[in-house]
Amino acid sequence: MERRNAVSSVRHWALVPAAGIGKRMGSAIPKQYLPLAGRPVIAHSLATLMDYPRIAGVVVAISAEDERWPMIATELTAAKPLRVVTGGAERCHSVLNGLEALHAWAAPSDWVLVHDAARPCLTAGDLDRLLVELANDPVGGLLAIPVRDTLKQADAAGRIMATVDRSHLWHALTPQMFRLGILHETLRAALARGLLVTDEAAAMEAAGYAPRLIEGRADNLKITRPEDLALAEFYLAHRAATG
Ligand code: C5P
Repeated sequence: MERRNAVSSVRHWALVPAAGIGKRMGSAIPKQYLPLAGRPVIAHSLATLMDYPRIAGVVVAISAEDERWPMIATELTAAKPLRVVTGGAERCHSVLNGLEALHAWAAPSDWVLVHDAARPCLTAGDLDRLLVELANDPVGGLLAIPVRDTLKQADAAGRIMATVDRSHLWHALTPQMFRLGILHETLRAALARGLLVTDEAAAMEAAGYAPRLIEGRADNLKITRPEDLALAEFYLAHRAATG
């Protein structure tokens, strides 16, 4: 209970990169707009963040060519500020644009939770864990899950060169939660060095920080391939049925 009180005085913001085109899905519609359990994928991802009481506001980065966003915006509850920014060429550019916009509302010491629009199965329970575990952390961290499968390193011909020790390997998920000021600085520095980081933790790592891994739920999957949609639908239906 004491830890809960400690986190409630700090503001938390969500930043949702949603400007991708989803090449690996092979569909005409960007993956965040594909239908999932009656709503577009992104509507699920945003609803969890908009409904979560300890998120003060949400920034979404969408593509300059996006024509579908207005349809989503009208469906969302306006219980907290929601701002839209234009995304960039890569996910890291979209996140940087969002961080810049956040400076209008937020303090450098506020937390920002960066969450992929393409992860529609995030739960409030995972958000609780992230906020509580990182409340007093000097760096911040991310949801992640330990690697379960045996890992193989391949050569250029697709033959195994080595079996990789998986005992300390994790899959990085989102949200990834860092202080706004430090994340902004480290991401800007990474991009200035030509590092197109694929997550926020990598920008922090490049600056010498060691983000914490917080074990999250394995069903917080990212929609990447067509079969992921069926799996996400199953998870959401199962939750609706079991409460
Ligand atoms: O393509 P990938 O699965 O890595 O995308 C992860 C998230 O980043 C998605 O929500 C996607 O919309 C977003 N993204 C973005 N701007 C880009 C590329 C991806 O906001 N240029």
